[in-house]
Amino acid sequence: MRKPIMAGNWKMNKTISESLSFIESLKSSAAGISDIEILICPPFTSLFALREQMQGTQIALGAQNLFWEAKGAFTGEISPIMLKDSGCKYVLIGHSERRQYFGETDECVNKKTKAAFEAGLIPIVCVGETLKEREDNLTFKIIERQIRGGLSQLQPQYAKEIVIAYEPVWAIGTGKTASPKQAQEVHQFIRKTYESLYAGCAEGIRLLYGGSVKPDNISELMRQQDIDGGLVGGASLEPDSFLKLINYQK
Ligand code: PGA
Repeated sequence: MRKPIMAGNWKMNKTISESLSFIESLKSSAAGISDIEILICPPFTSLFALREQMQGTQIALGAQNLFWEAKGAFTGEISPIMLKDSGCKYVLIGHSERRQYFGETDECVNKKTKAAFEAGLIPIVCVGETLKEREDNLTFKIIERQIRGGLSQLQPQYAKEIVIAYEPVWAIGTGKTASPKQAQEVHQFIRKTYESLYAGCAEGIRLLYGGSVKPDNISELMRQQDIDGGLVGGASLEPDSFLKLINYQK
């Protein structure tokens, strides 16, 4: 049985005080929820303050990026150990905005994924095709390349723990969601591809869908066999809508 995850990706939003007041509102409503993992990925600057505030709650903390080296002369970068130290359990890797605006490649995703595991973090590796790639019927080819390239040569103990997020680029922040059928089709393909890399591991790993997830489309998405949660941008910025996503079964 895979435990679902509802993850909020705040991107470059919220100051420390805004982050704190969000958690303050969410905290009591989230108390007692144990059938789903609740995850918030704020900007780096809010991590430490949130770690303090989330203590004793069911809410987990994640970062949006990392660098693969442990320390050294890499101005502006943050290491996996620093994230662990700031209270992170998870880290997003290879988000399409990182690939698009910061030139991240599958090779870089692979280095980051391995470094995250070695520091005791659980990577949430993002994959997804652009609109042009979908229209050119390249969706499966692109996803396969991203999975094989980004997730190659993981240690067996880590291969079982990874989380993969399918986020079609054309659905991110556009209000266009992949239909549950389209999403399920790709999720199933991801599981199959992953199984061919790490036999016996694919059935247990969690696959999240991301791209304009909203309170009114989450239930139908979550009913799909291979969708185990959401990676949510816009709708995770307000406690009310995020709470509705967490309570998608109600
Ligand atoms: P969105 O973003 O929910 O605003 O589409 C999702 C994401 O980029 O993780």
